[in-house]
Amino acid sequence: MEHYDWNEGWLFTPRFDPALVRPECGLELEPVRIPHTVRVLPYNYCNENEYQCLCGYRREFFAPREWAGRTVLLTFGAVAHDATVFCNGRRLFHHACGYTAFTVDLTSALHLGQNNVVAVRCDSREDLNIPPFGGQIDHLTYGGIYRAVSLDIKEPAYLRDVFIEAKAEGDFRIYTSTVGETVGCTLQAEIRSPSGSRAAYSGELSLPITGVLNGVHPWSIEHPTLYTLTVQLIRPGSAGLPDRVLDEKTIRFGFRTVQFVAGGLYLNGQRVELRGLNRHQSYAYQGYAMPDSIQRLDAQILKKDLGCNAVRTSHSPQSPAFLDACDELGLLVFTEMPGWRYIGDESWKAQALQNCREMVCQCRNHPSIFLWGARVNGSADDEAFYKRTNEAIHRLDPTRPTAGARNHRKSQLLEDVYAYNDYSYRGRGSACEARAAVTSDPRKGYLISEFGGQQLPTKPFDDETHRLVQALRYAAGINDSIAQQGVAGSFGWCMADYNTHREFGSGDRICYHGVMDMFRNPKLSAAVYASQKTPRSPSDIVLEVSSGMALGDLPGGVPTACWVFTNAESVRLYRGNDYIAEFTPDRHGRFAAMTHPPIEINDFVGSLLEKYEGMDQASAQMTAAILNEMRRDAMELSPLSKARMLSLRLSWNEVARMYYKYIGVLGTPCAAYRFEAVWHGRAVRTVVREPVQSVRLECTVHNPILTDGPTWDCAAVSLRAIDQNGSLLPYCGEAVQLSVDGPLKIIGPSVVPLRGGMAGTYLATTGEAGRAVLHCRMEGALDTDAVVTIRCREA
Ligand code: GAL
Repeated sequence: MEHYDWNEGWLFTPRFDPALVRPECGLELEPVRIPHTVRVLPYNYCNENEYQCLCGYRREFFAPREWAGRTVLLTFGAVAHDATVFCNGRRLFHHACGYTAFTVDLTSALHLGQNNVVAVRCDSREDLNIPPFGGQIDHLTYGGIYRAVSLDIKEPAYLRDVFIEAKAEGDFRIYTSTVGETVGCTLQAEIRSPSGSRAAYSGELSLPITGVLNGVHPWSIEHPTLYTLTVQLIRPGSAGLPDRVLDEKTIRFGFRTVQFVAGGLYLNGQRVELRGLNRHQSYAYQGYAMPDSIQRLDAQILKKDLGCNAVRTSHSPQSPAFLDACDELGLLVFTEMPGWRYIGDESWKAQALQNCREMVCQCRNHPSIFLWGARVNGSADDEAFYKRTNEAIHRLDPTRPTAGARNHRKSQLLEDVYAYNDYSYRGRGSACEARAAVTSDPRKGYLISEFGGQQLPTKPFDDETHRLVQALRYAAGINDSIAQQGVAGSFGWCMADYNTHREFGSGDRICYHGVMDMFRNPKLSAAVYASQKTPRSPSDIVLEVSSGMALGDLPGGVPTACWVFTNAESVRLYRGNDYIAEFTPDRHGRFAAMTHPPIEINDFVGSLLEKYEGMDQASAQMTAAILNEMRRDAMELSPLSKARMLSLRLSWNEVARMYYKYIGVLGTPCAAYRFEAVWHGRAVRTVVREPVQSVRLECTVHNPILTDGPTWDCAAVSLRAIDQNGSLLPYCGEAVQLSVDGPLKIIGPSVVPLRGGMAGTYLATTGEAGRAVLHCRMEGALDTDAVVTIRCREA
């Protein structure tokens, strides 16, 4: 058994020519590394016609004579969207799903001891009669060989697949399937625990290997313990010859039990409240074509930064690297068949069924996956079709429930779980519909597969009120799904902004629905999720303040609501050196069901009037209430405030003077506000809002150590304009000039504007090891550098 990464050495043409498949092709081709996108796109205002093409890839290789009598298998992680594979001019294989892997047996077409050529005709046009195509789609579908390619040299008999079902109590069943002549062969299985202890089992090919491992550590969100399973296909020795290992497969898995009941999701017998986001697998410029480290980063962001315990891979199976990271981090995954609202004809449906089978077979060993999507997202009912998808999925994986995200109520429920894209919220009342009004079978599980999204697209450069409303809507969605009995949890729409088709988005081919921008820079709404994390140390404390406290940003210079998103115990507010008040989460208010309800800051006066106006405590409190209420109501006086003024014998002039002094209007001296997050009695995090005195450009490389090999690697870079206190400057739109010294290439433009004070870039390795420095230059700020180390791993 030999395994080779095959991501290097490919040549590409954006226009397929039949000559490409021939041994001598004479075409002008571009050398590329996989993952590859057929077209690098601009950040916005891109044209979806540009990546739609019939293109081609070609790779030459030498097939040594030692391969005689062996099986040579070429595996593509994903080719978007329709791939025909040729070897030495012979058409060998056709695959018509852009989101699943496929393996081509090259053996019969090889010329041993000679040069050979593999070519791929890749069709990324959206008029293909396969999922997800057929209707309008709210995301781009890109094109190219965008996941890893590898070559395996095997015996004629080999293991095609290994699947282990492993329950939290330690009982397991191992299923295998083989290819080739295996009469008399046996199986050896070995389970290795994280501590290194091993247990061996043997079995027959026709039956699953079953057993019970004692004292297992189950896989859970908090402790995602992973075991490894190695299965060997053995040909017993005869006539004194020893046994031969024909093939061997190693996979990682976890012992865990998933149960969905009307009351919710139970993992290893314990109720889990799902708090997740939808993730599209697309990125700025590169579309789908990003290496493993970038895929893994998304999982880390979801779990570690945003505190999610679940993700929905909308709307297709996603990269194995992403799923591996979810396994390692303890992030539950809802994975669904490719598609978007549209159901096609019989041939389309046959492909969709095939996609379901491939999805399950390729992903079912990932312990993080807890639910299969057996419906095309948002599609209409289709009894015959969805009976088949559910059956196909259940047959290949009896351990997990199915769901299917629908946009309508009371749809036919052939799945185990009703997954509902709940876009009912308009900012008033409950943020989600009553479960009973939606599901067609209240005895089954129920979850909210989407909310938020298009109901309030929010750009990072929208005004403060708009950004706050988006955040509060996310909070309402999370809160109300927890508050309602029998809702297993929710998946907000969505993790990050994404490029889309002309029929959707803000006219610039972007859906600004994310809690992050396309570079995964957090918007305010990201803090809603982040602040739900359980803090274990002061560094886990989140403190985000919704308001910049700049009165002129708001119509009429009237201050707006100020909310704090935090997982601290309380928040203290200071104005200048004066302490104002301490605020604690309202456990009975609008967001009472959340672990850490956002806190509204509604007192900006505290006891200042006692201190500076010489008032007695009672009068100071009453007057402060008047001022705070005026702040909230655009300086209007409520009947209650009027009554209070009367009883305090305060004139309007007197109240206005104090309002100007302690709250402020346009033109009054700016105050400095300090917010302190208090945890275990100590202030552990501070946010200061005061006039900007200096602008800094902050550059963060999220993964500063890269490995070139088995293919290119990529660094994700975030840029932020911040003030002297580290506060984001949301209206800074300066251009940042990027340049690199050393072996890294900037993907996309080298001059990027800040959008909402934030930007990003991606840096690709070039095949060379070394140290690279990214220089960032912005008018009005000091230059900023970041260092990236690149190692090379030999193939
Ligand atoms: C949903 C759809 C998502 C996305 C979202 C936008 O209906 O399932 O893919 O388009 O709308 O809010």
